[in-house]
Amino acid sequence: MVRACVIGWPVEHSRSPLIHRYWLKQYGIDGAYEKEAVRPEDFAAFVGALAEHRYVGANVTLPHKEAALRLARSADEAAIAIGAANTLWLDAEGTLHASNTDAYGFMTNLDAEAPQWNEGLGAAMVLGAGGAARAILYGLIKVTDAKLLLANRTRARAEALAHVFGPRVEVIDWEKRNDALATCGLLVNTTSLGMTGQAPLDIDLAALPQDAVVADIVYTPLLTPLLVAAAKRGNPTVDGLGMLLHQAVPGFERWFGVRPEVTPALRAHVVASLAEAD
Ligand code: ATR
Repeated sequence: MVRACVIGWPVEHSRSPLIHRYWLKQYGIDGAYEKEAVRPEDFAAFVGALAEHRYVGANVTLPHKEAALRLARSADEAAIAIGAANTLWLDAEGTLHASNTDAYGFMTNLDAEAPQWNEGLGAAMVLGAGGAARAILYGLIKVTDAKLLLANRTRARAEALAHVFGPRVEVIDWEKRNDALATCGLLVNTTSLGMTGQAPLDIDLAALPQDAVVADIVYTPLLTPLLVAAAKRGNPTVDGLGMLLHQAVPGFERWFGVRPEVTPALRAHVVASLAEAD
């Protein structure tokens, strides 16, 4: 039996088992996907003993993503550029490899849900300056020529992030985010604002062109206050669940040898579990 897992601390909230177990069943694969709660101080030892734990690979979630990149012998371009890894695997020689599939997940979902997003795009605005913002900026830079505006409550964090990517990313003051929307054809929220239990994102969409795509990486709730406000004024919206589903694809293929499909049935399966958890 081929086994993989998700490693986090805490890990209980992870939806990855739901996705990978669905695919294992769907494709009739003799495999397993477990949750492993590993403390930060134990992470290196756990990953070093991945084979002894009978795992061929793992997803890595908070707070281990940077450590996962450091521990791997090789890493793909995305993981290096993003400075963090979310997918690990051992090759036949037992060498540990790392990848980051967050940008892939976001971009693939954006292409699927709003295929027109890059047509005539002048500028895009990314809100937030954490790991998710870094992954999304990396993904956007690769495929669009649009100007990338970055706004974060703490400007210094936005500047540090912009510095990683060079002149393509322009930092704007958090206070100026509403006005700057006038030039944007894409708005992406990468902050945790709008998540169940958190304050909603404080933004006024009045200046945003009506055909601009509005994407949120938050998926609990599926329709965040931002997406509700965007949909109400007619903007196309992209929710955060699609990114979660698509980022899982490359890892599953690595570990289990089948490239799985993100289908409406998988989405419905995960949506049902989100509804149960509420
Ligand atoms: P991740 O790495 O998962 O993206 P993070 O590093 O905790 O998570 O980032 C959370 C983001 O939400 C940050 O950009 C944070 O802004 P700060 O850098 O100023 O902390 C943003 N954020 C959290 N609460 C906020 C609030 N009340 N108003 C504005 N931005 C907020």
